[in-house]
Amino acid sequence: MEDMKRLAVLGSTGSIGQSTLEIVRRHPDRFKVVGLAAGRNIRLLKKQIEEFNPAVVSVCLEEDRAALKKQLSGGPILTYGEDGANSVAGAEGADLVVSAFSGAAGLRPTLTAIGAGKDVAIANKEVLVMAGSLVMAEVREKGIRLLPIDSEHSAIFQSMEGHRREDIRSLLLTASGGPFLNTPLKRLSSVTPEEALAHPNWDMGNKVTIDSATLMNKGLEVIEARWLFTMEPECIKVFIHPQSVIHSMVEYIDGSIMAQMGTPDMKGPISYALSYPERIDSGAPPLDLITLKSLEFFEPDMKRFPCLNLAFAALEEGKAMPAALNAADEVAVEAFLKKRIPFTVIPELIESVMSEHSPHNEYDLDGIVEIDRWAHRRANELLDKYDKLI
Ligand SMILES: NC(=O)c1ccc[n+]([C@@H]2O[C@H](COP(=O)([O-])OP(=O)(O)OC[C@H]3O[C@@H](n4cnc5c(N)ncnc54)[C@H](OP(=O)(O)O)[C@@H]3O)[C@@H](O)[C@H]2O)c1
Repeated sequence: MEDMKRLAVLGSTGSIGQSTLEIVRRHPDRFKVVGLAAGRNIRLLKKQIEEFNPAVVSVCLEEDRAALKKQLSGGPILTYGEDGANSVAGAEGADLVVSAFSGAAGLRPTLTAIGAGKDVAIANKEVLVMAGSLVMAEVREKGIRLLPIDSEHSAIFQSMEGHRREDIRSLLLTASGGPFLNTPLKRLSSVTPEEALAHPNWDMGNKVTIDSATLMNKGLEVIEARWLFTMEPECIKVFIHPQSVIHSMVEYIDGSIMAQMGTPDMKGPISYALSYPERIDSGAPPLDLITLKSLEFFEPDMKRFPCLNLAFAALEEGKAMPAALNAADEVAVEAFLKKRIPFTVIPELIESVMSEHSPHNEYDLDGIVEIDRWAHRRANELLDKYDKLI
């Protein structure tokens, strides 16, 4: 029991959250769940509570908390809303907080975990996209470990182990290119959400899957890498690698490139973050090198993937522009999933919101949250106008 690592999982009902709990299930001697936070899926959350017996649990809404309370006899402290998520993030006795909400909801709880001196395994890239500078300052002040879960960042992290930071020339992020890598450009305006959700290699939540089809996901990852590894934007490069076998690479000044390979299964990077610096059986199937026919790399075509350019532009502009980009993308992706806009309007909407935002100073947390709200509101207003046009 001494070596048991105690976990709080933010986003336990999501794709990353469920994979995290699968690893816990596989290693009951190593991990104990002390807190779970979810959004609205109380059916699954109830099962997780019964299986893992956490001390504190939170949901998004008060009504869901009440419904869950009725269904449980005894059990954990039940909380809700942002305060609830914060109480899970700061749960007494938690050694490691898995930050796996989607979107901006994870920002304050992740900062709460860091503020409470907990190590954080981060999947929720939007936290670093929105507030990378603030988050990293807090990480340094508290001296906690911020461990990447995103497969690209885990690959970079692993490829940096045992090397000197000053010897790094560049970070090379790989992207599968998603389902529309070879779709004729003319057809992109008529692709459906169902087609966009059919990712060729990875099984993920809806938002991140659509972001993978536009390559906004890679753009967000570039911003995430900039903060996580303190790299200048011009030293971060993106390659299309359709096989998704090399998860990312680090290039060193002597010309060597260190790459991390594996099957495209998030249990690999999640398990590394949970057990770091040790390695454990993650349950991800082994990579069969013999059946691997080729490893290809291409430069991304910015005409096909304008979202990637927008993310680089937001990173260059800095301050709260990445927060505006991220919020506009959330609205655009949701509108596409609801069939309100075509796929090709996603970057148009984001660009319109970005062009109306002129960041003029460094923002504190409240300032960033304010820009996030403004960009959501503005993107929704532009969507209403778009509805009237068609
Ligand atoms: N999935 C992947 O393979 C993958 C890979 C790399 C990085 N990531 C990143 O990891 C994060 C999570 O991705 P995911 O694919 O696991 O997403 P997901 O399947 O959509 O799950 C999101 C989780 O967050 C909860 N949630 C969402 N909004 C919330 C809110 N306002 N308040 C409280 N809880 C909320 C959801 O709760 P309910 O479902 O209960 O409503 C769910 O538990 C994202 O930032 C994503 O970019 C994901």
